[in-house]
Amino acid sequence: MPTSPTSFLDLKSFSSSDLHSFFSRVTHLKKASPASISSGERVALLFFEPSTRTRMSFESAAYRSGFGPLIFDGGANTSLEKGETVEDSILNIAAMRPKFLVIRCGDQVDLRALSQQVEMPIINAGWGIKGHPTQALLDVFTMSEYCPSLTGLRVLILGDVRHSRVAASHFELLPKLGIEVGLCGPSEFLVEQPDIKKFRSLPEALSWAQVVMALRVQFERHDQSPAEKNKPLLDREDYRASFGLNSRVLRDFDPAGIIMHPGPINHGLELESEVLQDPRCKVLQQVTNGVFVREQLLRDLYVN
Ligand code: CP
Repeated sequence: MPTSPTSFLDLKSFSSSDLHSFFSRVTHLKKASPASISSGERVALLFFEPSTRTRMSFESAAYRSGFGPLIFDGGANTSLEKGETVEDSILNIAAMRPKFLVIRCGDQVDLRALSQQVEMPIINAGWGIKGHPTQALLDVFTMSEYCPSLTGLRVLILGDVRHSRVAASHFELLPKLGIEVGLCGPSEFLVEQPDIKKFRSLPEALSWAQVVMALRVQFERHDQSPAEKNKPLLDREDYRASFGLNSRVLRDFDPAGIIMHPGPINHGLELESEVLQDPRCKVLQQVTNGVFVREQLLRDLYVN
């Protein structure tokens, strides 16, 4: 991870050794409670789209490392309601000089251009369908805790890959670590990616995988492209029957494998509630790890 005040918008510039060294610092952070790195400085958490896990884990990470969080949550009762743009809101909050801007926003916001206009690092906390790099980091950190080795690990990404910023970040991250990636889902939810296997049948995919990561069906992004307007992409019952995870289909999944989901879950669609009771399911461990991964990122990016 860089130690200069550069923004953290994607995972493109990180090498495999940067990533292994980052995961080792996160492991250490989970075991120890290091001193605060800051006192009296602030982190601005600017969430223009809904969030529970990412916002609260960044808030928790900020407190743990000594930053006061300044929270902009969704925009109700803010000047967005008077017509201020997202970009103006960001620049005005940057002028209050927090140490970082942690931002969740839609694709239409140009975080790269904004990162050239502000003095502090911008951290991508979920940017349209472009990427969600801290989610990908916490996912892989979780895999590293439960799987014997990342190199050669077979990870199945299941479901609405095309509309998922989590999947977009995993396409940047997993191949760098020597992780094999497979995709499974209806053809309209899949994407073309080099060196990635595609499975049409969930049982076949599960017999290949050591990790299965079910994605949330991103209904809110289905009607964004003109081609998709007025044409539902999904028959819920067909999807549930063919691609939903349940205890029956998971009987043939690796007993030492792990089941993941970035949340929030559409119960009874991509995953039946019973799956959360499966000892292989690490959904809440992902959330716990999100705090430490984000705290370590703040520590690494912090410059006095
Ligand atoms: N995984 C994730 O980004 O969850 P939230 O939308 O609740 O932050």
